[in-house]
Amino acid sequence: MSTDAQEVTAGVEAKLIPIYVMGKRYDVPDSLTIMKAIEYAGYKYIRGCGCRGGVCGACATVFRKPGDYKIYTGLACQTVVEPEMYLTQIPFYPANRAVYDFGSLTGRPEEIFALYPELFRCVACNACTKVCPMDVEVLDYISAVKRGDIEAAARISFDCIQCGLCASRCFAEMPQYHIGQLARRLWGAYLTPKAEHLKTMVANIQAGRFSDGLSGLKAMSQDTLKKTYQDREMEPATGGEDWTPKDRQYL
Ligand code: FES
Repeated sequence: MSTDAQEVTAGVEAKLIPIYVMGKRYDVPDSLTIMKAIEYAGYKYIRGCGCRGGVCGACATVFRKPGDYKIYTGLACQTVVEPEMYLTQIPFYPANRAVYDFGSLTGRPEEIFALYPELFRCVACNACTKVCPMDVEVLDYISAVKRGDIEAAARISFDCIQCGLCASRCFAEMPQYHIGQLARRLWGAYLTPKAEHLKTMVANIQAGRFSDGLSGLKAMSQDTLKKTYQDREMEPATGGEDWTPKDRQYL
């Protein structure tokens, strides 16, 4: 490999490959993600970029490959560039997010049906599931909403990062990710059993049970506060005798 076809990044030699951004060719290290490659080419991300770690869903991207009619999708911060990839910026997905007063909802499936009637245009093509970069079973949670099972919809859609790629592929022009989000909100606010210990704790706080302790902490100097923190009662350490192999895998 000639030296001009090499790039040294953090001590590792990377091969340069051509990509096209808005029709213009750039040679970029083949190890970069789309996001980093676009920046390497000199563009600055002002929008369409958030966490850079595959969590916020801001960087949904479409691209094409030469000689291939398909439009590919991915998160720009997670998808590694390929030779001859064509990248073009597109505006945000035009997904309708219903406007509602959450406090006036009660958690009935009919409320979702009224806010998102597009649900019933779903032809179960499963394109939404196939395009999801988080491997969420999108069609399954949409089907759960249609049967009125909000809990199932909330659980199945839990890993959704709201990137909107599902909506970009939907024949029914349905904003699946907004529907899943509403299901999770309804489930969390209205359908999960109320935690009794939380109610008791809130009542205790309101009755002023911790006021003296908090005032004492607020009046402390920084040094005393640090010492108080260091000397606090700690949860006893365990030797991990009762850990399962699954627990240990996180060590
Ligand atoms: S920038 Fe947050 S998911 Fe890519």
